[in-house]
Amino acid sequence: MSGKEPNAIELRDVEKSFGITKVIQTINLKVAQGERHALIGPNGAGKSTTFNLISGYMKPTSGSIQLRGEEIAGLRPFQINRRGLSRSFQVTNVFGNMTVWENLRCAVLWATGQRYAFWKNIDKLPEVRERTARILEDIHLVGRRDVPAGLLTYAEQRALEIGITIAGGANVILLDEPTAGMSHAETERAVSLIRRLTEGRTLLIVEHDMSVVFGLADRISVLVYGQVIASGTPEEIRGNPKVKEAYLGEEAA
Ligand SMILES: Nc1ncnc2c1ncn2[C@@H]1O[C@H](COP(=O)(O)OP(=O)(O)OP(=O)(O)O)[C@@H](O)[C@H]1O
Ligand SMILES: [Mg+2]
Repeated sequence: MSGKEPNAIELRDVEKSFGITKVIQTINLKVAQGERHALIGPNGAGKSTTFNLISGYMKPTSGSIQLRGEEIAGLRPFQINRRGLSRSFQVTNVFGNMTVWENLRCAVLWATGQRYAFWKNIDKLPEVRERTARILEDIHLVGRRDVPAGLLTYAEQRALEIGITIAGGANVILLDEPTAGMSHAETERAVSLIRRLTEGRTLLIVEHDMSVVFGLADRISVLVYGQVIASGTPEEIRGNPKVKEAYLGEEAA
């Protein structure tokens, strides 16, 4: 293995219990750098918990979690974020009474290490302004710049959330069900947005919509009852009898 670049994310024998309930049995997961990797599985399988573990919102009961070869298990979310990992949440996480522009700028400021200072006019910081403007364009919300985020449509809020997640320029992006609740047309737009914004980065995405999963992912891992039962290319996963039985049954038929 020497000389090979480390995986973007690697989980080894990760377990997580809440009290006496072992929610994550033993997760082994490898996400190579530059890969778009989908984590799929039934409700309650432990997908969001896995995201919480990787991003530092929860500590594993045992096991190792590495980001580009560096152990991060037990670090705080902001420390992991500083090491280049950014995540979105299953439930939308924008500041509803801040405008679209302010939400994005806040994320950019945080990422560039600028500290908020009330005596500074932060819109005068050219790099912050330019970066914010670029993301605003990327997520196609230029026309909604000064609208409070809480007044956006649901799909627009999710697009904003993706913008916030990538604003910091993180190399490893975790998206938890970014297209949940979207119409077919909105989903298609969101997928092309995700594809474009994660170009050259590593993406780990939790997604229930199989057309999104099979359209976007280079590799797929299947989580069932807190265990990864298979990892492979979309073709391998589609053809895997264990996966069909445990999860993909109806969709694959
Ligand atoms: N903080 C917690 N305390 C106790 N149990 C929890 C906690 N968080 C999650 N769980 C339990 O862990 C299991 C996995 O939950 P998780 O949210 O990770 O599933 P999921 O795969 O994301 O499901 P979904 O597809 O519905 O989003 C569930 O049984 C859930 O009730
Ligand atoms: Mg979840």
